[in-house]
Amino acid sequence: MSNNLTWHDHRVTKSQRASQKFQTPCVLWFTGLSGAGKSTVANMVEQQLFQAGYHCFLLDGDNMRHGLNKDLSFSDADRVENIRRAGEVSKLFADSGLIVLSAFISPFRSDRRMVRQLFPEQEFVEVFIDAPLEVCEERDPKGLYVKARQGLIPNFTGIDSDYETPEKPEIHLRTDLHTPEQCMQQVMSYLAENGILKDIRPDQIPVTRKEAFVSNDQN
Ligand SMILES: Nc1ncnc2c1ncn2[C@@H]1O[C@H](COP(=O)(O)OP(=O)(O)O)[C@@H](O)[C@H]1O
Ligand SMILES: [Mg+2]
Repeated sequence: MSNNLTWHDHRVTKSQRASQKFQTPCVLWFTGLSGAGKSTVANMVEQQLFQAGYHCFLLDGDNMRHGLNKDLSFSDADRVENIRRAGEVSKLFADSGLIVLSAFISPFRSDRRMVRQLFPEQEFVEVFIDAPLEVCEERDPKGLYVKARQGLIPNFTGIDSDYETPEKPEIHLRTDLHTPEQCMQQVMSYLAENGILKDIRPDQIPVTRKEAFVSNDQN
């Protein structure tokens, strides 16, 4: 990093942005093998939160590799950079007051630790989406395991690249034993029990703003 860079403080603070939204920002970091169910569960949680009035955003590894991270391969070094960028983007979104759902295989403990360290302790929630490799391979929703077994995809997590299981995730979901709906409910219960969902007071959203929004919507 250049020595000539200075951090510029913002006039509008993170806590002001969060209280404008009546919520406590956090990052739900979904990690697990390909096909374990990260995208499926993260989508359901996001939909549930959205319908309850929360402001949230899902960052999905596959989608980020189409844009911001499309210059990166699946080598160990590029995987580290992939997660570093994902962590930094998650932090920006959380700083904007959002509840962020980040779904990345993120196979290496050191990378997940690096991301965790970007956040205050309560704000980072590691969600281990756990299913045995055999189950993920059986599901193979994108046909990737078949290709990896044929040697067509080098460095495939679980096949010829490691997945280091989380040691102390805040939430551990066995997607081979529970339905997606049950997994989503477990995440929602964790958020409720840990004070992350306590602030929502839709009745307090200024009426004028609601009215302006509704009338804009009709135009
Ligand atoms: N409990 C569960 N949670 C999540 N996905 C499940 C579950 N049970 C079965 N599945 C299936 O497993 C697949 C998971 O795919 P996906 O969510 O794309 O995985 P990932 O994003 O981890 O690669 C989907 O086809 C989904 O329907
Ligand atoms: Mg996915």
